[in-house]
Amino acid sequence: MNKARFEVRVATRADKREILSLCRRAVRRDYVPMFLDEFIRDGSLFVAFDQGRAVGIVNYTRCLGGDGWLGQARTDPDYRRGGVATAIVRACCRHAAVHGAKYVRLWSLRTNTPAQITVKSIGFREVAVFRRLMKRAGRRTGESHLIVQRRPEGAWRLARGSELLRESSGYASMGTEFVKVGPKVFSEAVAAKKLARVGDNVCYIDDNVWGDKWKAPLEFTGLAGDVGLMLDEAERFAGMKGKREVHTYFAVGSKSLRTARRKGYKIVDWGKEAVLFEKSVRPSRA
Ligand SMILES: CC(C)(COP(=O)(O)OP(=O)(O)OC[C@H]1O[C@@H](n2cnc3c(N)ncnc32)[C@H](O)[C@@H]1OP(=O)(O)O)[C@@H](O)C(=O)NCCC(=O)NCCS
Repeated sequence: MNKARFEVRVATRADKREILSLCRRAVRRDYVPMFLDEFIRDGSLFVAFDQGRAVGIVNYTRCLGGDGWLGQARTDPDYRRGGVATAIVRACCRHAAVHGAKYVRLWSLRTNTPAQITVKSIGFREVAVFRRLMKRAGRRTGESHLIVQRRPEGAWRLARGSELLRESSGYASMGTEFVKVGPKVFSEAVAAKKLARVGDNVCYIDDNVWGDKWKAPLEFTGLAGDVGLMLDEAERFAGMKGKREVHTYFAVGSKSLRTARRKGYKIVDWGKEAVLFEKSVRPSRA
């Protein structure tokens, strides 16, 4: 199709019907409508319009530490390969730069060829590959020894240069986003009460991903130390919080992934190869 020029702006409540209709056209049994009110309320949903018709969306999130995360990209099937996603992602990158982000990241399944080609054509580069794993919680009973941290320094000293972070090239999932781990990320994770330790082992835990919209699992990310020990603790923690499952990501080919598999973690259907992409949004010096 001919490349058209689209109006790209942040969605308002008045756009809801148009966006719902777009989601129905774009993806079968889409989950985005379930969270649309929140995305609009957060002022983070970018929409492309063609003469009033919503033809594409991308959601922007500020991650812990200040970088940006893109998700929920959908383009109207009648407008695919018309530059819609490219136009919205560029708008998101400008927004990210204005708000102090250095990088914007996103992930896409290796099998999603259109998405993989699109993000590369916009200038994103592949930085890591993860598998998504889950385990039903509940077998391990008793108190979890995980202690939510009140200060970031000690945990950061343990995590900086840890084998776990080396395995994932320094990236880690925190909530629904991946971040490049650093001291600022740790400070903000502590402020959000999501950084925990047991002895010298450090992890990120989140029992409230996606708010209370659905029975979300406990999200766990190992950051330093003994993964097996922390996975056991995470299971106990999940039990204490009434969570039925623990979900996590590990880098493809890593020792930690093998440990998790030995602990009974299964790869989820859609999570065989989640490719993490990154793009710098710092203005280039001419
Ligand atoms: C992925 C998706 C958002 C791309 O949106 P889009 O608006 O069609 O993307 P663009 O038009 O900006 O594509 C930019 C470039 O990517 C490449 N590209 C996009 N789709 C492609 C396809 N199906 N096959 C080959 N190349 C493709 C092309 O190089 C294209 O530029 P060109 O048309 O000038 O050659 C769209 O296919 C979609 O909504 N898919 C379903 C939902 C989804 O998978 N979302 C992504 C989750 S990570």
